[in-house]
Amino acid sequence: MVILAIETSCDETAAAIVKDGKELLSSIVASQINIHKAHGGVVPEIAARSHIEAIIPTINEALKKANMTFDDIDSFAVTEGPGLIGSLLIGVETAKSLAWSLNKPLIPVNHLTGHIYANWINSKPVIFPALCLIVSGGHTILIRINNHYDMLKIAQTKDDAAGEAFDKIAKLLGLGYPGGPAIAKAAQRGIEDKYILPRAMCSPIDHRNNNLNYSFSGLKTAVSKITKEENLSKTDKYNLAASFQLAAIDSLIKKIEWYLEKNPDINTVMLAGGVSANTKLKDELTKRMHLINFKGDVRRPKLAFSTDNAAMIATAAYYHSKKIKIKNVNAFPSGASNI
Ligand code: KG4
Ligand code: ZN
Repeated sequence: MVILAIETSCDETAAAIVKDGKELLSSIVASQINIHKAHGGVVPEIAARSHIEAIIPTINEALKKANMTFDDIDSFAVTEGPGLIGSLLIGVETAKSLAWSLNKPLIPVNHLTGHIYANWINSKPVIFPALCLIVSGGHTILIRINNHYDMLKIAQTKDDAAGEAFDKIAKLLGLGYPGGPAIAKAAQRGIEDKYILPRAMCSPIDHRNNNLNYSFSGLKTAVSKITKEENLSKTDKYNLAASFQLAAIDSLIKKIEWYLEKNPDINTVMLAGGVSANTKLKDELTKRMHLINFKGDVRRPKLAFSTDNAAMIATAAYYHSKKIKIKNVNAFPSGASNI
């Protein structure tokens, strides 16, 4: 089955064509980073307007790159949420128009399910049961995947998402936008134990109570306090970026270790979402899984599929295809039902 998917949940206009959930035929991402840079973050109204301009050229480019026409497409898929309402609507309405006018099915896909399936693109199959840490700009969720149809949310952040913390702290330190890559770059020049920063919900009591949830707002406040109280030099900022990155990564991985202590049946530990592009996170995870003698596979998506793209939506649609009338496909900004 050849699926053409559309993703417009935030600030990336993306279209991709995937065959049978594994063969990537094309993936086009029109990023709006340069448009939002001047504002230091995504401006929803500008994002929606940019999607309108980019959506048709992006779809056409995906078809061209795959050397296909709409006749070769068996089904359309689209991100229904979570995301920005104005942005989601452009993708959803475009997909509905295409599916209706060409008389082909349309599969709605949860954006977070999409992120999980980025792990299947151009990679060997995932061995179940798997544990997936979704770390994106809007979400931090630990999820157990028994098989394609049985996913169980284990824990989530109680306040900020991990990516949100990277973005906010980059802004505080004046490192630019988007914050994740900016922090990662600054951290390479810093010393990561120069500042001792809090790891929320990681105490022995949390461990005893099996509290696997996350919290990043205290970490953000601690960094904010330092930036207000000290006159930071460039080197101090690099050190603070490195210390923050380590604290965030440490708390993310700790909960994976705690879960594995009680659930030794897990065969794969994987990352998903924009923050999975962070090399320090991947390296630290691999190192610590080795230290606890985890024998399974430790993985993250190929870099091009860590941040928002439509190939992950087409791949997820293949496994989660459901019969739904086109008129019932809608945008759900706070998230659809399947995660
Ligand atoms: O998954 P994504 O593209 O969009 C959402 O669904 O939110 O994730 C975007 C997030 C942003 O917060 C961005 O700063 C973060 O992913 N990010 C990174 C890196 N690259 C992107 N965070 C840390 N290190 C990176 N290298
Ligand atoms: Zn995303």
